[in-house]
Amino acid sequence: MARGAHLADWYRTAVAAPAVIDRGRLDALEARENARFVAERPKSMALLERSRRTMPRGVPMSWMDDLYEHPPVFVADGRGAYLTDVDGHSYLDMYVADMSAFCGHAPDLVVEAVRRRMAHGHQFLMPSEDSIAVAEHLAGRYGLPKWQFTLSATQANTEVIRLARAATGREIILMFDGKYHGHGDATLVVLEDGEVVPEEFGLPRWITGQARIVGFNDIGALEAALAPGDVALVLAEPAMTNAGFILPEHGYHEALRRLTRDAGTLLAIDETHTLVTAYGGLTQEYGLEPDMLTIGKSIAAGVPLGAYGMTEDVASHIAPPGEHHVVSGVPIAQVSTGGTLFANALSMAAGRAALLGVLTVEAFERTAELGRRMAEGLRASIEAARLPWSVVQVGAHAAYFFTDNAPRSGAESRAVDDPRLRALMRVWLANRGVWESGWWLGPTVSLAHTADDVDGYVGLFGQCLADLVTAEQMQD
Ligand SMILES: Cc1ncc(COP(=O)(O)O)c(C=O)c1O
Repeated sequence: MARGAHLADWYRTAVAAPAVIDRGRLDALEARENARFVAERPKSMALLERSRRTMPRGVPMSWMDDLYEHPPVFVADGRGAYLTDVDGHSYLDMYVADMSAFCGHAPDLVVEAVRRRMAHGHQFLMPSEDSIAVAEHLAGRYGLPKWQFTLSATQANTEVIRLARAATGREIILMFDGKYHGHGDATLVVLEDGEVVPEEFGLPRWITGQARIVGFNDIGALEAALAPGDVALVLAEPAMTNAGFILPEHGYHEALRRLTRDAGTLLAIDETHTLVTAYGGLTQEYGLEPDMLTIGKSIAAGVPLGAYGMTEDVASHIAPPGEHHVVSGVPIAQVSTGGTLFANALSMAAGRAALLGVLTVEAFERTAELGRRMAEGLRASIEAARLPWSVVQVGAHAAYFFTDNAPRSGAESRAVDDPRLRALMRVWLANRGVWESGWWLGPTVSLAHTADDVDGYVGLFGQCLADLVTAEQMQD
């Protein structure tokens, strides 16, 4: 997800999409749909009024209010592919909590594992046997031999950065324009007029000196940025998911791996979002060979769990051969990792149930088929409305762009975005029972979705476009 000040700038400055949607029509629909949204949710609006007295912006985490242009609604329930708000509206969930609910809501196996673990205690600051099963499973699934656990993907990325710095003796992290890797200081930087700047308020200016950002799919820029030999780590999604859905061009990953090796730079692949696209993520799908790999969100069906895998070589910096970590309250020389609740028995039990019982090969084959069905349906609706838009899809995930040429980089994606239009489509769909993704992401089919769910979504998407496009435009 892209966030905060950066998101606000994008909203203000993004150029309007090609003038195919009449702006007068957009104004009228916006007023109608936003008014309907508020009027039909009196309980949520009353809760919001109450919650504003004790929580800034009326939400327990402020970007719950950033996610959409319409006011936040309070959730009551979730089951399978659907969630219900406190006013009793049921929504087909195409956002799946920014991909963290990819397993569907309340999957039986995970509910049962969590119930069992809670009944026997869940927080000991001791390893449970589930953690071995999860680490063994992840090693086979993603092809890296050693694993550590956190509570979120942000924390996994934070630790991977520290490990890379310890392993290389360098400080600089290289990332790609349009990325999001969580809210750790080191990754909260963006490009502004070619300069690296802090992404949001509250970040020290000096963090910009620790980061380099280049455009995705630009091998020349990557080579130049690695040339000084001072980059500890390249942190990259295998396909970018936080500025639409941007696929790597042919040969890009080969170049990335070759150039990082030549520069003595470690490579971490962040599969936090893309893990929904294929059983072993795009790392296995593309045959990538990262030094480290980070995941989170849906690996324990949304119960807090983050993880990172690493090569034996990288792991040696956590467990140096022959070194004894015997301490009694005295800090010893080691990489700074860990937290009291990290790898708690509840997270590991949920992770074991989700990874081994829910996120199966067959489940991925099914969602990939549904993902294709969704993409074809979206394309057909776009064609019927005669809009010059495009759809990108891999496995369960898709994104639509307001251009017929799918973007190759974050900059290209920003240039064709139309946040007002996207916000309008979202509220239009919410008013008719679809919880569409945030505007930067695109829809995802969860493991609980059926073909009927996908057809229902695509049908409403088509109706939404027909409402957006005026009758004269349809005839042109
Ligand atoms: C690619 C990627 N990595 C890491 C994160 C951070 O995940 P979390 O907020 O669960 O820590 C995100 C969140 O959107 C993400 O998109």
